[in-house]
Amino acid sequence: MSIRTSIDKLRENLLANKKTEGKASESPDSAPSVPAVPLSDIPSSSYQFEHFPEYKEYATMIWYCDKQKFPQNLFQPHLGSSDATVQINGSTYINFSTYNYLALGSHERVKNAAIEAVKTYGVGTGSGRSITGEISLHSDFEREISEALGTEDAVLSVGGYSTNTFTIGYLCRNQDLILYDELIHNSALAGCKMTGARRFSFPHNDYDALAKLLEIHRGKFERVLILVEGVYSMDGDIPDVPKLIEIKNKYKATLMVDEAHSMGVIGPNGLGVCDYFGIKGSEIDILYGSLSKSFGTCGGYVAGPKPLIAILKHYAPGVLLYGASPTPANAAAALESLRMMREHPELAQRLQQNAAYFIERAQAAGLDTYHSKDSGVVPIMMRDSELALWLSMKLWESRICSYPMMHPIVPRDKTRLRFFLNVNHTREQIDHTIDVITSSLRVAPKSKGLF
Ligand SMILES: Cc1ncc(COP(=O)(O)O)c(C=O)c1O
Repeated sequence: MSIRTSIDKLRENLLANKKTEGKASESPDSAPSVPAVPLSDIPSSSYQFEHFPEYKEYATMIWYCDKQKFPQNLFQPHLGSSDATVQINGSTYINFSTYNYLALGSHERVKNAAIEAVKTYGVGTGSGRSITGEISLHSDFEREISEALGTEDAVLSVGGYSTNTFTIGYLCRNQDLILYDELIHNSALAGCKMTGARRFSFPHNDYDALAKLLEIHRGKFERVLILVEGVYSMDGDIPDVPKLIEIKNKYKATLMVDEAHSMGVIGPNGLGVCDYFGIKGSEIDILYGSLSKSFGTCGGYVAGPKPLIAILKHYAPGVLLYGASPTPANAAAALESLRMMREHPELAQRLQQNAAYFIERAQAAGLDTYHSKDSGVVPIMMRDSELALWLSMKLWESRICSYPMMHPIVPRDKTRLRFFLNVNHTREQIDHTIDVITSSLRVAPKSKGLF
């Protein structure tokens, strides 16, 4: 098969995964029906993994990268910690691919708290929280995160992705409606699908479109849940949360904000959207956060009113019910990271300054940083997948880590390289990175628009 044919095939597969952008669109629930065939006619693509179209798509991509002699930069084990720099294959890379924003994941205080917790409790709690899996570190974290956010209560859970998915999955039912920003994270989409609720996406940050959907549909449903992110993980922009609160109050809906990339990062004290906009946590119905970003560990939490937390704790499968509790090490690390965030707002401030400097340098060099502002996520728009992949490989060869975000993760014309800024990045590292990008782009091959 020629490179062209393979890439055409790849394009066909990806296009099948069509996305409606820029306008409100409804997500269907029904699966396509398959005509009945005799057993002898069932194709191998239905039961042998190597014939699954997904695997063929993967194999084509690997084949393309091999042909281009691109270095292997996925699943490369690192040594030591991963923050502003990372050690891979004996070399030091400047790292823009870690969301350990504040470098707390490798801070001595956080590591020691985790070590002490392991010494005290062991490496696991032995069961789910509601039976004998509870340790005081869980409730200490919940009390302190509620204090920091200004909410009544919180629940700590074992996974970042799963907490988002299962919270949404539990709170909505067939008779409900979910309205979500088109750029919402996959973990939220997975939760939406679980619910069986009617669902519409609205164009990114388009509050008029959201209000219009509510105007048309509000009366036809029981619960209406609005889903947005505190910082969008691809674009690095921040929605107008006060405006969203106004809308949700007007239409008697509930608002859930995913703080995975905002907590620990934005606001004068780095305490997320409430800190950034000067609002109380109690004005937002559901604040969800991941512990794998600025907290530097693993897990998730939901903060909000006491009744919400009570039902999530007692009834929501996958939040606490039917699952193990967060490990002592994870809970202790999350708690110590939270304490450090609150004691040291200068960490988030330094990260914000690094991001601002990166944007300033990139824009001065003629690069497009799109909508990123005041957050730790900065895209450099390439708008061409081949060019983005090529540039990320050039950066890798120059010992700089930044990965391309391509279709179907983002629309084809919004392909970009994504940079996570870190508290420990130096001005020299940022200057060097922008120089490598600009000098590489000067000699970039012309894209053939292969994918
Ligand atoms: C916006 C957003 N929400 C949720 C998650 C899931 O969090 P975790 O990686 O901790 O599982 C991510 C992960 O990247 C994310 O970017």
